[in-house]
Amino acid sequence: MALIAPSLLAADFSRLAEAAALAEAGGADWIHVDIMDGHFVPGLTFGPGLVARLKKATRLPLDVHLMVDTPREVVPWFVDAGADLISIHVEATPHLHRDIDAIRAAGRKAGAALNPATPLAVLHEILPELDYVLIMCVNPGRGSQRFIAGSHGRIRGLRRMIAERSLAALVEIDGGVNLDNAADLVRDGAQVLVAGNAVFNTADPAAATARLKDLTVRAETA
Ligand code: DX5
Ligand code: ZN
Repeated sequence: MALIAPSLLAADFSRLAEAAALAEAGGADWIHVDIMDGHFVPGLTFGPGLVARLKKATRLPLDVHLMVDTPREVVPWFVDAGADLISIHVEATPHLHRDIDAIRAAGRKAGAALNPATPLAVLHEILPELDYVLIMCVNPGRGSQRFIAGSHGRIRGLRRMIAERSLAALVEIDGGVNLDNAADLVRDGAQVLVAGNAVFNTADPAAATARLKDLTVRAETA
């Protein structure tokens, strides 16, 4: 069953615990936390102190998406803060294997994130070491952007790469996911759907989460 990971980037930053609780009430599986450093991407968001507080506020696993340069330096901060899953961008490190290894050695799930223009082939050697791959379906840095259509083929291609080698990595997708495209994305092979705008820029984030979950379940059983 596909997992839903509402992204707090679209929530009211002064009420994040409440936002996480609404997502949880709607049946969310993970809480997606976007960390931006103002260098790898233009925006600045959250630090490890906030992640540590969120960890106390929700039972859901915290899926920390590091949009930062030199992830090696900050991974230990987020491990200490209680991140359950940590993804780093392949574009941000020349030492992907070492950095993924550090996340797994700390006992956390490790993901590699890919920008829209980064070829899937970059994953060939690292794929067996990954718990998940995060496919960006928009350019990272802000929410509420339009889904890049070519991402459908990338999701299908990645699922094929993983299946051909009988590997375990999950396919997580991030950016532009909404009620209109969620079912198609699950049919493409997405196993974890991140959604910011589609959940929190609504009158009822719990209901929006539940609706997304329902759409993905139907897509899988159809
Ligand atoms: C974008 C972030 C996403 C963002 C998605 O840089 O990585 O997680 O929150 O937002 P939506 O779902 O609004 O496109
Ligand atoms: Zn993200």
